[in-house]
Amino acid sequence: MMTMENWIDLCGLDDIPRLGARQVMISGIPVAVFRTSADRVFAVEDRCPHKGGPLSQGIVHGNAVACPLHNWVIDLELGEARAPDVGCVRRFPVRLAGETVQLDAGAIVVQAAE
Ligand code: FES
Repeated sequence: MMTMENWIDLCGLDDIPRLGARQVMISGIPVAVFRTSADRVFAVEDRCPHKGGPLSQGIVHGNAVACPLHNWVIDLELGEARAPDVGCVRRFPVRLAGETVQLDAGAIVVQAAE
């Protein structure tokens, strides 16, 4: 199977505050890149499924972020709001290569073409 992976460097791990996030623009999409207390990284579209709040300004706890506007909790692994709220947010593949945070831009192109 042909792979479309295209890992690009986003920033250094230390450029993201622990328990916080950094916003980057990828192909015109605002993407929030989060760092957990265990130094795991996640990336989702920076737009809350409730009313579009900036998730990158939320507080990370565990593998989730609380939206700063109305406190919905978004699971960053699943890209879904936790009950009782219902909604999902687009996730992007990210990984750590040493101390560098990388995002698979190939996945964005594939998704955008659908
Ligand atoms: S906009 Fe995020 S909880 Fe309302």
